[in-house]
Amino acid sequence: MKLINADYLQGTVEIPPDKSIAHRSIMFGAIAEGQTTIHNFLRAEDCLNTLQAFQALGVPIYDDKKNIRITGVGFAGLKPANSIINVGNSGTTMRLLLGILAGTTFETTLSGDASLNQRPMARVMDPLKQMGAEVTGNNHSEFPPVTVKTNAKLQAIEYHMPIASAQVKSAILFAALQAEGVTKIIEKEVSRNHTEEMITQFGGKIQVKQKTIMLPGSQRLKGQELRVPGDISSAAFFLVAGAIVPNSKITLKNVGLNPTRTGIIDVMQEMGADIQFTQTDQKNGAATLIVKSSELKATTIEGSLIPRVIDELPIIALLATQAEGTTVIKDAQELKVKETNRIDTTAQELKKMGANIAATDDGLVIKGKTTLHTAKVSSHNDHRIGMMLQIAALLSRRDVELENPEAIAVSYPHFFQDIKYLAKRKC
Ligand code: S3P
Repeated sequence: MKLINADYLQGTVEIPPDKSIAHRSIMFGAIAEGQTTIHNFLRAEDCLNTLQAFQALGVPIYDDKKNIRITGVGFAGLKPANSIINVGNSGTTMRLLLGILAGTTFETTLSGDASLNQRPMARVMDPLKQMGAEVTGNNHSEFPPVTVKTNAKLQAIEYHMPIASAQVKSAILFAALQAEGVTKIIEKEVSRNHTEEMITQFGGKIQVKQKTIMLPGSQRLKGQELRVPGDISSAAFFLVAGAIVPNSKITLKNVGLNPTRTGIIDVMQEMGADIQFTQTDQKNGAATLIVKSSELKATTIEGSLIPRVIDELPIIALLATQAEGTTVIKDAQELKVKETNRIDTTAQELKKMGANIAATDDGLVIKGKTTLHTAKVSSHNDHRIGMMLQIAALLSRRDVELENPEAIAVSYPHFFQDIKYLAKRKC
C-alpha cells in the first residue's frame, strides 16, 4: 500500500477507545453478576477476540451496535467451550483469560495467530501453577496453545514480580479473586493499573500501596455501566505526527489520562514538544489535547518510565529521529516479546528510510536529526509498527510503500482514514 505524505497536518480527531480498558470491560462484565453495559467499546480485532472468547465460554454478550450488553454469569457460571478458543494476535486476551480460567474445573485450550503462538507464557503459567492451577503449553513448552484448569480451589500466594507487566499482574489478580486467602503482589515497577481500578469499580475489595497490592479471595463482583475513554497509545501517533510535521496543529479529543499510561506526554514535553490540555473530563479521566510542531531535543528513557511508555517506544523512536542529539532508550528488554521483537523491527524499518538508529540489547540509540526518505517498508504484521511507519512516511517527499498494512486493524481499524483527513497540501 502507498502511504500518505503531507506538507502539514491540521484538524480534530476523536481518539478510539482504550484497548486495555475495553478488554477488561468485557472480562469484568462476564465474571461479575448481573447486567453490564459498555459505552464506547473498541470494535477492533483484539477486543472482538476477547468478546468472542467469552461468548464461547457461555456468557450472553450482545452488541446493539451502540453499546455492548453483558449478562454476567460470575466465575461459577462460565461453561466449557465447544472447541479450542483462538484469540488471534491478542496477548492481553490470552494472558488475562488464563488467570480467569485458572479457577475453572473444566479444561480450556487457548491458541493464537503465528505471532502470539511464539510469545512467552511461563510468566503467567508459573504464578498460576503456584496457586494450584494446571497449565500446560504446546508439547510441554511455555508456548500456546495453552491448556488450563484446576482440580481444587486456588490458593492465595505472595508473588514478587520478576518483570514489570500489567498482563502478568492482571492474570494473577483474576485468579486471586477466586482463591482462598489474601494474595499479595509486589510489582517490579508500577505498570498500568486498569485491572485494580476495575476491581473497585465492580464493587470488589483491593488495597494498593505503591508497588504492593493486597487482594482478598472468594470475591463476587457486581455488573456496572461504564464508558471506555480514548486510548493514549493510539493518540501517541498523532501527538508525534503533530510535533514532527512542520506547521501542524492537531486537536485530539477524549484522550484517557491514567497516570500509569501518560509517559508519552512526559517524554514529549521533556523533548520540547508543544502539547496543551483543554476540556478536562475528570469523571472519565480524559482530556482534549492540542499538539503543534516544535523544535525537539534528545532525551534518555529508562527505569520506571519504561512501563509507562512500553507500547509507545516505536513511535518515540521515530520522534527521536527528528530531535537534535542522541536519544537513548534502555531497560526495555520487554520490547523483544511484543507482537514482534520491536527493538529489531523498529530499527530495521526506520533504517530503510534513512534513520540513524541502532538496536541494543535492551533498547535503541537514535541520532537526530535525519531526513527520512522513500523506501519499501513492512509492518511485520505488527499494528504499532505499521502505524509508526505511516507517521514516518508523512515526512518523506516521495512515496513510501508499506507491506501488510492491514495489521493496524488489531487496535485502530480506521487509522489510515484519520491520517488522510489530517494530511494537507500547500496550495
Ligand atoms: C497490556 C499490558 C502491556 C502492553 C499491552 C497491553 C495490558 O503488556 O504492552 O499492549 O492491557 O495489560 P505487558 O504487561 O506484557 O508489558
